[in-house]
Amino acid sequence: MRKLAPIPYGSLFFAPMEGITDEAFRKTILKLFPEWDYLACDFLRVPSAGRYPAKHLVRHFGKELFELPWVQEKTMYQILTSHRAFTAEMVRQVDELEIPWLDVNIGCPSPTVCRNGGGSFLLTDIPKLGALLAEVRSNYRGRLTAKIRVGYKDTTNFEESIRMLNDVGVEAITVHGRTQAQMYKEPADWSFIRRAVELSKVPVIGNGDVWETADIDRMLRETGCHAVMAARGALKAPWMAQDYRRGFFDRDGSATFKRIKAFFQDYRALLETENISMRGLLKQSKSVSRFMLEGADGGEAIRRKLILSQTVPEFFSVIDSL
Ligand SMILES: Cc1cc2nc3c(=O)[nH]c(=O)nc-3n(C[C@H](O)[C@H](O)[C@H](O)COP(=O)(O)O)c2cc1C
Repeated sequence: MRKLAPIPYGSLFFAPMEGITDEAFRKTILKLFPEWDYLACDFLRVPSAGRYPAKHLVRHFGKELFELPWVQEKTMYQILTSHRAFTAEMVRQVDELEIPWLDVNIGCPSPTVCRNGGGSFLLTDIPKLGALLAEVRSNYRGRLTAKIRVGYKDTTNFEESIRMLNDVGVEAITVHGRTQAQMYKEPADWSFIRRAVELSKVPVIGNGDVWETADIDRMLRETGCHAVMAARGALKAPWMAQDYRRGFFDRDGSATFKRIKAFFQDYRALLETENISMRGLLKQSKSVSRFMLEGADGGEAIRRKLILSQTVPEFFSVIDSL
């Protein structure tokens, strides 16, 4: 099993996002904006019986993981589980495949996932979650991390969750400053990230409401966190990490359309080399475009045209007109 270098202070993470951060998307981001220090693959659900065929894991996590060492260094691979799922089995399989970084999703707010006892619902019983994670730890030799919300319906268990994660041997914790009940709507409360930093011996990665470059420094400064993870902000402005490293602040958004166009031209070219179906290309492109135009001057009308596009040429003729 490859041993990963420690995560440097001030690293920037492009967050996992289901339906978006698949291999083709991550490849585009790495090619266009290598300033992102780390990317994350969205979760793979642990099956409730048996094992997936290995090729299913390869398909989900991406084949470059198994071929390119630098992709291994830069990518966090995630599972979503519950007490009912075959977690130890799956973790052993991840270990056998020598996937060097495994993150456990303890934050998913989806009502269906939570009803089945997974995602952020796991935060309702910390000792039980601790036992599950101890099982994960004992079956996995690579870097184990966890991504949590600050609670399920409330934050009563928050401090206990941070202590438990340290005790079971998790090597970094991403803290998303919202409870499950807050979904994505209310502002993320960074004071919980600061509290996690005080309580944790392992690095804390701050997450929630990083919308622009200035928020990166603000989060590092206000919370003392070790690294910063952006999700919707990163999707809206995939060039955020590049701007941050270059000290560029596009306050009036004038570069936005040009950058969206350049992004999609590369994204399309890469997806086409993957032999993705036209339907798949259209679906992916729509998910990716969802956040990019938000708040941009005249962006709403363009976004609507993109979402209503019925074919790939129609979608890209809107992009080409930008
Ligand atoms: C469309 C979408 C899909 C997501 N999928 C995942 C996922 O697969 N795994 C995960 O840990 N978090 C997932 N998240 C949560 C984000 O990684 C992040 O924690 C959350 O959006 C808060 O960060 P933000 O305020 O920067 O958006 C998802 C969020 C969105 C908007």
